[in-house]
Amino acid sequence: MSDIKTAEELNSKIKRIVVSEEEIREAIQKAGKQISDSYDGRPILLVSILKGAFVFMADLCRAITVPCEIGFMCAKSYYSGTVSTGAVKITMDLEQDISKYHVIIVEDIIDTGRTLNDVVKLLKARNPLSLRVVALLDKPSRRVVDFHADMSLFTIPDYFVIGYGLDCAEFYRNLPYIAEYGEKGE
Ligand code: IMP
Ligand code: MG
Repeated sequence: MSDIKTAEELNSKIKRIVVSEEEIREAIQKAGKQISDSYDGRPILLVSILKGAFVFMADLCRAITVPCEIGFMCAKSYYSGTVSTGAVKITMDLEQDISKYHVIIVEDIIDTGRTLNDVVKLLKARNPLSLRVVALLDKPSRRVVDFHADMSLFTIPDYFVIGYGLDCAEFYRNLPYIAEYGEKGE
């Protein structure tokens, strides 16, 4: 069978919406305000973990009113289908010297916790002025390492989710909502 999927096959796996566009918008406005209030005018550096967090970053940075710079890192956690294999690799590093910044890591989802655990260790070793983690989604039931974000916008059960930056085999990142991936009617 061919590996190339048709639009019909891809669309048939969007099982149901878990977080709507409206819910995302409201939660980001609230988070942006909280972040802006807590930094009290001090400049910050938002560090987005690519690729999954690119959409969240774009919306969150526009809800923040303190001066802010943005940076990107690419951390790949290897997946075999929808199952994490445990290996985390930094494939693109930040360009900024973070010792001069109050840093906020912006991540799409915390699943096993391995990616953020590794990224936080790496960035802490570079002595930022402060370091916090904001995640759009949290799946606490899946943790294998003890990791807690300073802020997470939505806690979800153990679903594999797609959309709003999150992918399955690189598709679905452009969906404006977060959906469960799978066969409809399962
Ligand atoms: P962790 O290292 O297991 O916490 O995994 C974090 C990374 O795995 C995230 O940044 C996502 O890129 C990916 N991931 C985890 N759960 C999902 C999911 O449900 N859908 C899509 N990607 C996921
Ligand atoms: Mg990610």
